[in-house]
Amino acid sequence: METGHHHKQERNTFSGSLGFVLAAAGSAVGLGNIWRFPYLAAKNGGGLFLLIYIILALTFGFTLLLTEVAIGRKTESGPLVAYGKMHERWGFLGLIATVIPAIILPYYSLIGGWVLKYFTVFATGGISNAAEDGFFGGFITAQWQPIIFHTVFFAATALIIYRGVNEGIEKLSRILMPILVVLVVGIAVYSCTLSYTDADGVTRTGLQGMAIYLIPDFTGLTFGKLLGIIMEAMGQLFYSLSIAMGIMIAYGSYLKKDADLPANVNRIEIFDTGIAVIAGLMIIPAVFTFMGRDAMSAGPGLMFISLPKVFQSMGKGTGTFIGVLFFLMVIFAALTSCISILEAIVSSLIDRFHMDRKKATILASLYGWIFGIIVALGYNVFYFEYTLPNGAVAQILDIFDYVSNNILMPLLAILTCVLVGWVLGPKSVLDEAKRGSARFAREGLFVIMLRFVCPVLLALVFLKAFGFFA
Ligand code: PHE
Repeated sequence: METGHHHKQERNTFSGSLGFVLAAAGSAVGLGNIWRFPYLAAKNGGGLFLLIYIILALTFGFTLLLTEVAIGRKTESGPLVAYGKMHERWGFLGLIATVIPAIILPYYSLIGGWVLKYFTVFATGGISNAAEDGFFGGFITAQWQPIIFHTVFFAATALIIYRGVNEGIEKLSRILMPILVVLVVGIAVYSCTLSYTDADGVTRTGLQGMAIYLIPDFTGLTFGKLLGIIMEAMGQLFYSLSIAMGIMIAYGSYLKKDADLPANVNRIEIFDTGIAVIAGLMIIPAVFTFMGRDAMSAGPGLMFISLPKVFQSMGKGTGTFIGVLFFLMVIFAALTSCISILEAIVSSLIDRFHMDRKKATILASLYGWIFGIIVALGYNVFYFEYTLPNGAVAQILDIFDYVSNNILMPLLAILTCVLVGWVLGPKSVLDEAKRGSARFAREGLFVIMLRFVCPVLLALVFLKAFGFFA
């Protein structure tokens, strides 16, 4: 038995590559895929956005994801400790990588609670209430309900993490992810077969909506606009792959030493991007059919405001059925993401302060639960209006989201590229990446991406957060 300064024996691991891929995909596939990706695609020329997104996923996404998973496995540590093990003087990156999930956790759980609320409303036959104007606003500004649903959602999250990597995260992901795929594909097929004639006698079909979503629209495309689309695609990719928030370092640290990193990273990417594209097929054709072209890029309100109306237009029985399945699927997606955020924090506490999992889970959970309540109160007791650099009016939730996604995450990713690409040299992660890999075809591309392309693109995303090239 090994003891003393060595923690290897106690460290949890995934049982194998499949468990790891499903857990990482569970983290990656979340609200970002289902709700944010479709409206971004609709807003940015459909197929053109998809094409750019897929190219970026295979290059930019692959590079950053592989780097993080390799850092995790190499150091066998959560993010707070991992960076310091890579390079003593760069340990502060670990702090940023722990602050980011700490900012995201409270509001992600709150939104998870909103989804739970919609699920219960549909499941109890309240479809026409949910479709009413003002339902969403009324709910999130209410005093108690959002807090209660956040509490339930958070308790589920904490329970899984309390049970550990194997018994908790991996087991849950193995059950939920396959169900999620079936639901997303099933709803997408249904959505593409819809047809509806509105009050003006205009008939629209799901297939037409699908064509708008998939076929690139080059009308009025300028170089500036193209750049804008690339930046939006990149920002989305980041968030969607759960990159630069310490999560993939934590999950990588639970991966067996002989697992093939490049192959597994590819699988995660394909899973995440595939679900995002199919989620678009689920939402865009349905919204187009019942609400017309302009409603497709409705933005953040799409899921909570437009979709209930879409479900209602399907008729009470069908709409309730599809709505229940839809929100159940979103709960699964959000839950597997939320557990990964909590795990990033818990793994850091365990490694840095040598806490046991139970204590770390309780501590991090208390924090997340209380701050989630504060974020919820941002819509009533603590209500204010703050204008972000991008012109959006924000409450506490939006500010948390902005600081983490638009500022801290690009910053952490840039610094990670500099550390690994220049200070330590790509070999520091390449050796780890190649350890269980028979052949790694994209090594040259990886080095160029890591040293040059990624930092430059990331710097653009970072500057954009401060209102440059708005
Ligand atoms: N990747 C998740 C998504 O696409 C979002 C996420 C954010 C997951 C933060 C974990 C942590 O929705």
